[in-house]
Amino acid sequence: MLFLAKITAIVNYQVFVQMTDWISRWKDGKIGWHRNQVNTKLVDFIQCLKLNPGDSVFVPLCGKSVDMLYLLEQGFKVIGVELSPIAAEQFFTQSKIEYSIVKSSKFDIYTNDDISIYVGDYFDLDSSILSLVTAVYDRAALIALEIDLRQKYAQHLYSIIPTDCRVLLLTLNYPQSQMSGPPYALSKDEVELLFNKRFEYQQLFCINDIENEPKFLRAGVDFVEKAVYCLHKK
Ligand SMILES: C[S@@+](CC[C@H](N)C(=O)[O-])C[C@H]1O[C@@H](n2cnc3c(N)ncnc32)[C@H](O)[C@@H]1O
Repeated sequence: MLFLAKITAIVNYQVFVQMTDWISRWKDGKIGWHRNQVNTKLVDFIQCLKLNPGDSVFVPLCGKSVDMLYLLEQGFKVIGVELSPIAAEQFFTQSKIEYSIVKSSKFDIYTNDDISIYVGDYFDLDSSILSLVTAVYDRAALIALEIDLRQKYAQHLYSIIPTDCRVLLLTLNYPQSQMSGPPYALSKDEVELLFNKRFEYQQLFCINDIENEPKFLRAGVDFVEKAVYCLHKK
């Protein structure tokens, strides 16, 4: 029992350190993952989500991604979750969308008619918040988390989204020994291990895109595989 308690305390401490690190990155403006253009893989593969007009899409660890704006422009609703209030505030301000802040026990909800960003910890979300979503868009969320948190992320995702929900998952794979994350490398085998018991899954796309990744080229990394998966909660 004492041993288990110690392990839990260590894991909780690691989670706390990681969360503090993300908050600091936003405060210091060190957000190298952010892109001002819509992700082309979202545009190319959005049809795998089988969305109808007015459907809601959940965007975990959303930052201030302009992909959320794209989803809104396509006529969908968006629910995001993000640790940093700076990210939520910048998303609305930079998109020129007015918002109000509603406080709940675990989240400050930055909200407008069609989009709500829950500012707080992804692991505090529950299924009642996501009961109406039909799809999930994960870009730089799962791969942002250290390896010890991935299983927890996948299990939690399964537990909070409705049955029949589809997930568009974008990943990167590279020799982890040649560069440290985030983003952390995630292979096809690992995706299968994380999701295959609970989700039907299909790899839609995979290429080595090292030529377009100067940071990885500078670090001497041999390859960077970019992959897209469509998951379906059974
Ligand atoms: C690599 S960024 C990706 C952001 C966004 N998906 C994008 O494509 O621009 C990861 C984001 O997850 C947020 N984050 C990390 N851990 C989180 C957690 N436990 N709950 C909510 N957000 C978290 C960080 O603050 C950061 O904005």
